[in-house]
Amino acid sequence: MFRWDDWEFTRPAADGPFCVDGRVWWPWWIDRRHVELVYRLAMLGSRWCALEIGARRGSSTSALVQALKDGGLGFLTVADPARCLELDRVLAAGGDLCEQYVGSGVDCLRAPVRFVLWDGDHSVGIVREEWAAVSRLAPDLIVAHDVCAGDVAGCEGPAQVLPDVLNDGRWACWVDGARRPGEWTERGLLVAVRRGALEAAVEAEFRAMVEA
Ligand SMILES: C[S@@+](CC[C@H](N)C(=O)[O-])C[C@H]1O[C@@H](n2cnc3c(N)ncnc32)[C@H](O)[C@@H]1O
Repeated sequence: MFRWDDWEFTRPAADGPFCVDGRVWWPWWIDRRHVELVYRLAMLGSRWCALEIGARRGSSTSALVQALKDGGLGFLTVADPARCLELDRVLAAGGDLCEQYVGSGVDCLRAPVRFVLWDGDHSVGIVREEWAAVSRLAPDLIVAHDVCAGDVAGCEGPAQVLPDVLNDGRWACWVDGARRPGEWTERGLLVAVRRGALEAAVEAEFRAMVEA
């Protein structure tokens, strides 16, 4: 079972501390509560192909790589126009079961994938373009980050596109944007699963994450 602190290869994924509203944060860029949910959701699959849009230094990628190693995922493509050593190290742990596409996520939204982790460019135009492509592909599961961060400059896209996702009708959706002391979950995480077989299991994982 996944335990964040056991992951030697996640550690270089951290940046240095920074300051928001007078508080010092040690950023994982996606909160570890949410990263753990990503792992658990990926483990609902059986060797699924997954796509991550926006990996930065690989915090969330670490969950997907662990799910590759544990059999939930079968292949992982990470789309990010930027390369960095920390992400290379995380991907190396997945061996030849994962690859980085050095470019835009929307270029990778042509081949079918079962699971999309969506955390790339958060501008409105790009997120709309990506949502159109994700919606056409209709993977089983979408996890999108920063969906409640519309008041952060440059982060407006997920919040503006969120109603399109929620009203699509084909998906069961949950959003966790709770403010928790010492965490960063108010940035918001959307989980959307195609209505059908996986719905109950995904909902159970989501509720367990919220209540943990
Ligand atoms: C918010 S960070 C991702 C954080 C990451 N999920 C984590 O857990 O640390 C956004 C990333 O998206 C990448 N990016 C920017 N434009 C992109 C695009 N068009 N397609 C894919 N990734 C993009 C940036 O280079 C950056 O690494």
